[in-house]
Amino acid sequence: MSVLNILKYPDPFLKKPAEAVPEKEDVSDLIKDMFETMYNARGIGLAAPQVGVGKRVIVLDVSPVDETSKSLALINPEIVSREGREESEEGCLSVPELNVKITRASKVTVSGYTPEWEVIQVAAEGILAIALQHEIDHLDGVLIVDYLSRLKREFYRKKIKKMYAQRM
Ligand code: NI
Repeated sequence: MSVLNILKYPDPFLKKPAEAVPEKEDVSDLIKDMFETMYNARGIGLAAPQVGVGKRVIVLDVSPVDETSKSLALINPEIVSREGREESEEGCLSVPELNVKITRASKVTVSGYTPEWEVIQVAAEGILAIALQHEIDHLDGVLIVDYLSRLKREFYRKKIKKMYAQRM
């Protein structure tokens, strides 16, 4: 297992929609590396495009926020139902130093495949529902910055450019 490099906004790869994984393709090593990368960065979710892999794979572990929740890996996840609305503040490992208030469905049902290619359906609410929607957004090339107004997004882009320049 290895810790992978997490791409950061405004890396254009993060804007590219990911491709469905062909059935039965073995992505178990990718999933292990994604878990290790996520835990290493102290995140609660990670999508494959964030580590430069354009495949529809996500991993989640929201147990730091909801201790009853277990870790979860999904291949080709799809939201099949949504219920309610809830606003919360979200951060992202690919979007440093930014929290964005985003309104999402408060409950979702997601279908997909386990790492062993078994069909799975996950009914989620609370932080897990939010995290699932956030990670599936990544698979469609959508980032938390896309929920900002154009003005705020420009402001953030300038701030982050300055920050990267200072680090070099
Ligand atoms: Ni994210």
